[in-house]
Amino acid sequence: MDSISSTYYALAWLATVALLLLSLRLRRPRHLNRPPGPKPWPIIGNLNLMGSHPHRSIHDLAQKYGEIMQLKFGSHNVVVGSSVEMAKVFLKTQDANFACRPKTAAGKYTTYNYSNITWSPYGPYWRQARKICLMELFSVKRLESFEYIRVEERNSMLKTIFESSGKELPLKDVLSTVSLNVISRMVLGKRYLDKSENSVVSPDEFKKMLDELFLLNGVFNIGDSIPWIDFLDLQGYVKRMKAISKKFDRFLEHVLDEHNVRRTKEGEKFVATDMVDLLLQLADDPNLDVKLERHGVKAFTQDLLAGGTESTAVTVEWAISEMLKKPEIFEKATEELDRVIGKNRWVQEKDMPNLPYIAAIAVEAMRLHPVAPILVPRRTREDCKVAGYDITEGTRVFVSVWTIGRDPKLWDKPEEFCPERFIGKEVDVKGHDFKLLPFGAGRRMCPGYNLGLKVVEGTLANLLHGFDWKLPNTMTKDDLNMEEIFGLSTPKKIPLLTVARPRLPLEMYRL
Ligand code: HEM
Repeated sequence: MDSISSTYYALAWLATVALLLLSLRLRRPRHLNRPPGPKPWPIIGNLNLMGSHPHRSIHDLAQKYGEIMQLKFGSHNVVVGSSVEMAKVFLKTQDANFACRPKTAAGKYTTYNYSNITWSPYGPYWRQARKICLMELFSVKRLESFEYIRVEERNSMLKTIFESSGKELPLKDVLSTVSLNVISRMVLGKRYLDKSENSVVSPDEFKKMLDELFLLNGVFNIGDSIPWIDFLDLQGYVKRMKAISKKFDRFLEHVLDEHNVRRTKEGEKFVATDMVDLLLQLADDPNLDVKLERHGVKAFTQDLLAGGTESTAVTVEWAISEMLKKPEIFEKATEELDRVIGKNRWVQEKDMPNLPYIAAIAVEAMRLHPVAPILVPRRTREDCKVAGYDITEGTRVFVSVWTIGRDPKLWDKPEEFCPERFIGKEVDVKGHDFKLLPFGAGRRMCPGYNLGLKVVEGTLANLLHGFDWKLPNTMTKDDLNMEEIFGLSTPKKIPLLTVARPRLPLEMYRL
């Protein structure tokens, strides 16, 4: 070997050793500065600390560990933000990095393998879905064009309540019916769920299907946290998810078929009249950035029906329940309604800016009873730092809106239902004020917030305008149970029973 080749040989050796050392150094686990949190157990992590109300367990832990904490759910890191500052980081300053959703069994089995808006991962498909919401489904023009539906359904609700005057009324049933009818006429073009003989699903059955879907989309499914025991389906949730998605699919197939038949029949003259028509038209559009397949149309339709029905009904039920605990609020509300609206007409959407007290009741209900108390979980797309702590890619992120809404530093007597706290103040629930986030904020914020607010405020205002509300004779306000159920929405555990009596001239109820 001559001297030049032996030098090359030695250099090659040195380079190899240097590269090996470097790669070893790189592989050595970095020391990560994780947020504070309880020590995890092997395998289960901190799952043992989650009670039947996980948002309350998380709230209690946040009191101990502070505004940012780390938990471990099985093998997954979970970071929880519980202050205005942390919500701002997760939903505004670093929103793009936290705009993904974790992969869960619910997303897989109940939303056509993450094809809906809520569970689809951050990326072109989801971005396109949001664009469709913004430009087509929830544009100001579109929502205005559907106002007549909201008025007709509101009238039919008022009539139902009038007809059961003086009798015990399960309020949530009436509320779910009105929001389901509004949303199904906007999305599907008709009620579909009328009690007629040839309807595919009865209204009661459909409401049960929605309750099950919401519950299963919010549950802590152990298999999501400890993937290697997923196949055991210990809680039986996956079995239920598969069953409910089959039921929805049967219904959605029927809806799409009917819509396609009309399109074919009308040919050139066809005009889209509901959201399914719009989605099917988009599915045929060759210029769409990402192809929208039939299962995507079904997934979006189901998302809109579910998102639009449950949340509004739950919010109004909480508002009336809180008022029944504090009847003096009814007096203030009806004073405002009599002064602004009078006794000879119903409240219209355009009246809302003149009804600050009614609007304050709705906001206060959303503060104390947010539909999604820890928002919908997010997932980090890349490693990042928050408040000096390391958060690694793939971490699940919760924002505890429940804790922020009860923070004594932000709210005077936070546990008290007190609409007056908002009177004379600029109130924003549309993702700009991080103290109040009933619809979330940032890229993943609820796309249906405008419609949601219209339905909540319009329904509440007219319920209060049209009727005096009391608890059944057999109950006092102390008997009223204010516990909730945790799921993707957070309804009352025991549905509210009320007695309504008309408070306007009787001819007003001839609707
Ligand atoms: C009072 C009414 C409503 C409330 C309180 C509410 C609340 C929320 C919340 C908290 C989120 C999660 C936001 C986040 O992850 O940061 C959300 C997402 C969503 N909401 Fe709503 N919502 C309401 C009404 C509606 C309506 C009427 C629709 C549609 C018809 C709707 C459709 C959706 C969809 C599709 C998402 C998923 C968005 C995404 O992941 O990109 N919601 N909603």
